[in-house]
Amino acid sequence: MNAQHKMQVILADITKLKVGAIVNAANNTLLGGGGVDGAIHRAAGPELYEHCRGLGGCETSQAKITPGFRLPAQFIIHTVGPVWNGGEQDEAELLAGCYHTSMDLAAENGVTTVAFPAISCGVFGYPLEQAVAIAVKSVQEKLVQYPDIEQVQFCCFSPELESLYLEQLESV
Ligand code: AR6
Repeated sequence: MNAQHKMQVILADITKLKVGAIVNAANNTLLGGGGVDGAIHRAAGPELYEHCRGLGGCETSQAKITPGFRLPAQFIIHTVGPVWNGGEQDEAELLAGCYHTSMDLAAENGVTTVAFPAISCGVFGYPLEQAVAIAVKSVQEKLVQYPDIEQVQFCCFSPELESLYLEQLESV
């Protein structure tokens, strides 16, 4: 199947998805926070926090994998997006790195279905259209590299974001 046919957009709470891995838009501590990170920690249970305490945090643009604990997803891939600072501080490369390293970890762990939230698009303030273009391009590159990954869902929490992803996917 073509890489673009493996990408889908859904409007959903990512914590409810029964996929191989959901991706968390975390912070450098990996110890939880607000937004999707808070929702994932609440749904996965305190075992996730205990496990993350042993991971030593995570650099921006990198990713670490944990079990899903009480989630329907088997794994959680925690990545740390860049804070938007006007676009002159390598934000685009750092955000692309989040998608790349998350897909690398999925492939290394035999995960065939992955769901991403819109990394950096909430508290971290990344302009939505630019972030969506980077997300789709970066995932597409990795789907070409890893043919065993069958499906990637862009999980949106707002109809506005959903339509931006749909437009972007139509143009690839
Ligand atoms: N399911 C899917 N998407 C969600 C959910 C959910 N349950 N909840 C929120 N979103 P954000 P960031 C969307 O702020 O910008 C945390 O405190 C949300 O609408 O969660 O990368 C971390 O600890 C938005 O489109 O992540 C960090 O400190 C997208 O997820 C910081 O926020 C990302 O918004 C990370 O900021």
